[in-house]
Amino acid sequence: MNNHDQPKAVIVIFGATGDLAKRKLFPSIYKLFQNGRIGHDFAVVGVARRPWTNDIFREKVCESIANAGAPEEVCDAFTSHFYYQPFDVQDESSYQALDGLLHELEGRYETGGNRMFYLAMAPEFFGPVANNLEAHGLKDTDGWTRLVIEKPFGHDLSSAIALNEDIRSAFAEDEIYRIDHYLGKEMVQNIEVIRFANGIFEHLWNNRFISNIQVTSSETVGVEDRARYYDTAGANRDMVQNHMLQMVALLAMEPPIKLTTDEIRSEKVKVLRALRPIDAEAVGDYFVRGQYGPGEVDDAMVPGYAEELGQASDTETYVAAKLMIDNYRWAGVPFYIRTGKRMKAKVTKIVVEFKDIPMNLYYADGNAQHPNLLVITIHPNEGVTLHLNAKKPGTKPEAKPIQLAYTHDAENAINTPEAYEKLLYDCMLGDMTNFTHWDEVALSWAFIDSVSAAWHENGAEFPNYPAGSMGPEAANQLLEADGFHWWHVTGKEEK
Ligand code: BG6
Repeated sequence: MNNHDQPKAVIVIFGATGDLAKRKLFPSIYKLFQNGRIGHDFAVVGVARRPWTNDIFREKVCESIANAGAPEEVCDAFTSHFYYQPFDVQDESSYQALDGLLHELEGRYETGGNRMFYLAMAPEFFGPVANNLEAHGLKDTDGWTRLVIEKPFGHDLSSAIALNEDIRSAFAEDEIYRIDHYLGKEMVQNIEVIRFANGIFEHLWNNRFISNIQVTSSETVGVEDRARYYDTAGANRDMVQNHMLQMVALLAMEPPIKLTTDEIRSEKVKVLRALRPIDAEAVGDYFVRGQYGPGEVDDAMVPGYAEELGQASDTETYVAAKLMIDNYRWAGVPFYIRTGKRMKAKVTKIVVEFKDIPMNLYYADGNAQHPNLLVITIHPNEGVTLHLNAKKPGTKPEAKPIQLAYTHDAENAINTPEAYEKLLYDCMLGDMTNFTHWDEVALSWAFIDSVSAAWHENGAEFPNYPAGSMGPEAANQLLEADGFHWWHVTGKEEK
């Protein structure tokens, strides 16, 4: 199937009354419809516990796409493709009724029996729903059947293995699309293009020329209404195990021999396999955890995590880490990552710091040497900036740092739905490249489990960073111990 084809399918969204469906999925399906990626041969069935009707459901979908900028007049035509069925995941008759509805819609929209089951629901239902779908014949169609699942995919390696075995008894690995929405982001996808389409970078992309790589994903929001889930997860499971390690894998992988799903995944897996395991005793040398106390974010005072939660907690809302990839290309090059809630700014950025030239002939401001940096900005702008040194105008042989920049705005509101839009479309086309393979999930859990275990053993001294800062002081020391420092990513002083 080539990219100009309009895939046909019925998309069944479990958890259709929830936040993810409203904020991400409906607007993404709308965009696919609006830009002609999908034609008229599609239907969406929302299932959830609430006793909604088609009309109520369509109204909610209208509201959701209006918030994403859809004009009022398109609403009826678009939402006429949407159907709702009240559903009890434990109840056999719910599955039978759903199968009946799907057959009817497959006749009406000529979707060839292609069914996407999107599980936007609590993870304890992933296994039971997958097995019930199979047991009640919902996979017996003339077309493809695919299961899309959101994170968290387990809580640690052993729960992830159990969950995977459960799902795999009903769906094959090549029918399972594990979402990591960072892989749908424009600039995350651009990492491979920047690397593999530019000789000036790829030739230097190794431990001879790069001193360190820094990946930041900071957020200003707190845990909001997700405290119940978040307090059992923490930043390490919520962000590092998936999004942060995926970005590191894309930055560190070898060029694939072809741009196929298997080749790309296999290179990413090799990076995860080469991650230096962290022993319990060494956790403090590689990982820093933090939790925010009260502070000021965007000119407003906000409470600390414990106050928001209503009790003291050892859950980390911030992680900084030094990852070492023990292979030929990266031996000795630290990959520093940091992510946290209630930080100074919402920024997702990668800074690649190149080694200094052997001798500095041209002194720049204050005699400082300015290393070359390649900065890939994922949010709030999308772009690439190369930091170079050039002659300072005048008569003296002095250099000054200059920047070559390419950026375009990606407003908060459109950035993530766009990622979901791409991922939904890829799933309909059967392209699994930007979904996480089980091997990647397992290796990522294995890597962070030892850190979680060590942290669990030793209580934390929280809070240790004020809301509105860039994290605990220990995160600065992590780099200083190696002779580096975090590059500013917020555009303002970061302490
Ligand atoms: C999610 C995490 O996976 O990613 C959230 O569960 C986090 O806690 C979110 O806020 C961040 O995504 P983005 O696209 O806003 O950087």
